[in-house]
Amino acid sequence: MQIQWYPGHMAKAKRMMQENIKLIDVVIELVDARIPLSSKNPDIEAMAGNKSRVILLNKYDMADPRHTSSWKEYFENKGYFVALVNSKSGNGIKQVKDIVNKACEEKIARNRRKGIMNRPVRAMVVGIPNVGKSTFINSLVGRASAKTGNKPGVTKGKQWIRLNKNIELLDTPGITWPKFEDQNIGIRLALIGSINDNIINTTDLSLELILFLDKHYPEVIENRYEIETPKGLEDLKSAAKVLELIAIKRGCLQKGGEPDLDRAANLLLEDFRSTRLGNITLEFPE
Ligand code: G4P
Repeated sequence: MQIQWYPGHMAKAKRMMQENIKLIDVVIELVDARIPLSSKNPDIEAMAGNKSRVILLNKYDMADPRHTSSWKEYFENKGYFVALVNSKSGNGIKQVKDIVNKACEEKIARNRRKGIMNRPVRAMVVGIPNVGKSTFINSLVGRASAKTGNKPGVTKGKQWIRLNKNIELLDTPGITWPKFEDQNIGIRLALIGSINDNIINTTDLSLELILFLDKHYPEVIENRYEIETPKGLEDLKSAAKVLELIAIKRGCLQKGGEPDLDRAANLLLEDFRSTRLGNITLEFPE
């Protein structure tokens, strides 16, 4: 299943970020704790290489805790400041302030040595669409400062926000990148809802999810839908059999009584995205 999504406004936003990167001391990158690598934009990596780096594993409340701690360690070993965040509830936000301060310390000290006392440290907040960037900024700044919404790509303009007297944040629009190196990246991004669903075949996407769950979380579908399913699925065709069983069990039927796979697919994706299937991480550190 091939997925690419890089509309024009993202290319424009990337240019804005490139123009502003010279003003920035620290890059705060939100990734989704369920897919920490696939949700990490390689264009940002290229842009922000020599800046102080903070990675926030957002939505950790939706991820599988067994893997979240390994991911934290993975990024720490690569020299990032890392925090687990639930922007929706505010869990972990206080710790973010501490690590952003820490990431800025060196810069503040350097400024002081140069006699620059009042220049705030500037941090750019980046992340793919729907990663929770607006919710995070609202939670961090403590008021409704950034517009939030459930459509990928809702934040469009450029926005500076004062966090405290020492730190200013530049909010940026959620962007993807022109070409996913591996088709699984596109699939994972689509599964967590960071790709506009209108350009996706959601039935095919749900079959990919069924294959993944069969391999890594084999009990999940049986438990959720109270059905017996074949195990050790080999391909999308065998995954379609499972989708059919879900459709029948949940009464997703076409006029003639045939299972309605499209409806069942949407139901399964919705159950995954709302964690009704449980806390599931879609990729694991090597
Ligand atoms: P964006 O700016 O990066 O595009 O994302 P935004 O903040 O709009 O958040 C996208 C969705 O993710 C929102 O849900 C938001 O509530 C949810 N969200 C953000 N951070 C977290 C988190 O850490 N944990 C959980 N569980 N959810 C998070 P929504 O369904 O679109 O809106 P709502 O019904 O929650 O208001």
